[in-house]
This record gives sequence, C-alpha cells and structure tokens, in this order.
Amino acid sequence: MHKILDGKRGIIFGALDDKSIAWKIALKAKAAGANFTLSNAPVALRMGKINELAEQCETSVIAADATKMDDLDALFEQSMEQLGGKLDFVVHSIGMSPNVRKKRHYTNLNHDWYLKTFDISAISFHKVLQTAFQKEAMNQWGSIMALSYIAAQKVFPDYGDMADAKSALESIARSFGYHFGARDKVRVNTVSQSPTMTTAGSGVSGFDRFFDYADKMSPLGNADANACADFCISLMSDYCKMVTMQNLYHDGGFSNMGLNPALLEE
Ligand SMILES: NC(=O)c1ccc[n+]([C@@H]2O[C@H](COP(=O)([O-])OP(=O)(O)OC[C@H]3O[C@@H](n4cnc5c(N)ncnc54)[C@H](O)[C@@H]3O)[C@@H](O)[C@H]2O)c1
Repeated sequence: MHKILDGKRGIIFGALDDKSIAWKIALKAKAAGANFTLSNAPVALRMGKINELAEQCETSVIAADATKMDDLDALFEQSMEQLGGKLDFVVHSIGMSPNVRKKRHYTNLNHDWYLKTFDISAISFHKVLQTAFQKEAMNQWGSIMALSYIAAQKVFPDYGDMADAKSALESIARSFGYHFGARDKVRVNTVSQSPTMTTAGSGVSGFDRFFDYADKMSPLGNADANACADFCISLMSDYCKMVTMQNLYHDGGFSNMGLNPALLEE
C-alpha cells in the first residue's frame, strides 16, 4: 500500500464488525500511513468487535452517539489531543432506520422513528460537520465524507425512509461543503456505494435479491467494501484536493445503466 495518507490524522465513525465499510477503511487508512481514532455509539461498543480493530490500528476507541452534540464535542477534543493536532479527514459511515429494521412499510411509517432515521442517518452528519467547523478542528485541504446510496435519487421501494435520509445527507454535504470550502479549504463529499453485505445492508428486506440485481445490472459488478475503502482513501488523500460538494458513485457503473441485456436473458 502506498503511504498516501502519511502523517494525516482523522476520525473514523461506524466500524461495527469486520464486514463494516468503516472497518475496511480503518485498516486501509492505517496501511496508508494515517493515524486516527475510531468512534461508534456506546451500544455498538458493547455489542461489536471494534476493540479488535483498535488493536490492529494501534489506536483507541472513543464512544460517541453521533446524534449528541456533547458526545461529538468531547470526541473531537480527545481525538485532537490524542493524535497531536488538527485533523485531515473525517469518515461518517453511519446509518440506521428503526422503520426499516422493524419492517414498517413506507406507506405506514412510524413518524417518531422517521425522525430517528433522519437524526441518525443524515442530521448526525451536519452535527459532525458543525462540531468540526466551530472547533476549527480541520487542517486546510482536509477531507470529510459520508457514505450514501442511490436510493437518494431513484426509487428502491424496500429502502423505505432511508431513501429520504440519504437525500438529506447528500444535500448536507453540498451545503456544508460550500461553507467549509470557502472558509478553510476543506472538502465535503458523499460516496454512493453499491449494495454491500454488512449489518446495515442486510437489514433491508429482500437485500439478497437486490444485491444480485445490482450486481448483474452493473457492467463491473457490485463494488465491495474493500474497493469502497480504497476509493475513500484516495478521497482523503492529496490526489483529490479539488473534489468537493460531490456525490460520487462508487457502484461499478450501476447509476448510469438503463437496461442490461444480461438481466433480460434471465
Ligand atoms: N451496506 C450497504 O449496502 C450500503 C450501501 C450504500 C451505503 N451504505 C452506507 O454505509 C454506511 C455504513 O454502513 P455499513 O453498510 O458499513 O453497515 P454497518 O452496520 O456495519 O455500519 C453502520 C454503523 O452505524 C453505527 N451507528 C448507528 N447509530 C449510530 C449512532 N447514533 N451514533 C454513531 N454510530 C451509529 C452502527 O453502530 C454501525 O457501526 C451507512 O451510512 C450505510 O447507509 C451501505
């Protein structure tokens, strides 16, 4: 692995187990020379295996519920102290919908849960950005990213209210990207990833079928979590300095396909 993140510091949110996209990003960021802290919600720390990852990455885990400003405040302070300076990257790899998890149909949502979906999966990104912005926690040319999905643009009925949250997430990246770019030359983007076999992914009903459908529709096939991590590493590096306020498709070509004859033959 080329050391394209040598000397860079950051925070990686959302590694739950070794299937998590954030888990792969952490391993590759370490191999590329970065130093970072890992964070996840307190409940995930109890259930998941993030401490194993921390050992491999020679770092520590700092608990933070990404919907709570006080937690984020403490996380950024501790991370800068532990890493020895301002940050160069932040990875938001967080998503959860109580409605999707409890199989509530989009036409019959629990609206309290709908608010939770938005808070956890979209507004938490604004909270992370606002914390970093107000603390002046980012170095110039730093890179902040969140993981998204194409249901933000096109209808995937089983994705339920997460589709609306992803639309908001991508909008937040654009809106905050302006302010962070203009003041600090910091980049803000979303990466729209193929369906991926993780805890969050397989919580969507019919996931296996839609995974196969996307795999066959995409000329390159589905991008897996490791490939996604490689792409995120490049986005954190100085090779993507002028890329900001974008939603970047990392999906094997799926988003630009209309029809694939391979699917018709089935
Ligand atoms: N798996 C897919 O098919 C797929 C496709 C495109 C985008 N994504 C996105 O990738 C990101 C990562 O998901 P994943 O697939 O690696 O699944 P995952 O389940 O491994 O990761 C989701 C993470 O969100 C964390 N989280 C939930 N609530 C939180 C809170 N309040 N505070 C802090 N963290 C919280 C969980 O603990 C978990 O670590 C999500 O944004 C997801 O929507 C996933």
